[in-house]
Amino acid sequence: MKIVITNDHAATELKTELLFHLAGKGHAVEDMGSNGARAEYPEYARAAAKKIAAGEFDFGIFLCGTGAGMCIAANKVRGVRAIVCTEPFTARLAREHNDAQILCIGARVVGRELAKMIADEFIAAKFEGGRHAERVDAFMKFESE
Ligand code: RB5
Repeated sequence: MKIVITNDHAATELKTELLFHLAGKGHAVEDMGSNGARAEYPEYARAAAKKIAAGEFDFGIFLCGTGAGMCIAANKVRGVRAIVCTEPFTARLAREHNDAQILCIGARVVGRELAKMIADEFIAAKFEGGRHAERVDAFMKFESE
C-alpha cells in the first residue's frame, strides 16, 4: 500500500517506529511529518490530507499528542474521512463500515506496540460497501451544504 505518515513534535518517536514497522511489511511510506522541531498540527494535517483527497496515497497515518488535533484538522479537507483510534477493533470497523482513509493515533495515549497493531488492522481491512456505502455517501454530501 502507499501510505503517507505525518506528525507533530509530540509524536516524532512514534512516527519513526511506525515508519520502520510499515516499511518492513512492504508498504511504500512517505514521511511528511516533523522530525522533532515544533510543528503546528493543522498545517501538517492539511498538507498530507490533501494528498489523500487527491488519491496520491491509499492511506494516511497522522500522529500528534492525542490524535484529536490531527483528526479534526484532516476532516476539514474535502473528501477526507479521518478517525482517532486507541484500539484495533475501531480501526477495522472504521475501514469496513466508514471507508476511513486516515488513521490518527495519539502518541501520548497509545503505546508503540499497540499503535502498530492498530495500524496493521486499519491497513488490512476492506470497505464492505453496500448499505455502508449509502451511509458514507449520505454524510459526504454534508460537504456541499
Ligand atoms: C501538542 O502539544 C498537542 O497539542 C498536539 O500534539 C495534539 O495533541 C493536539 O491535538
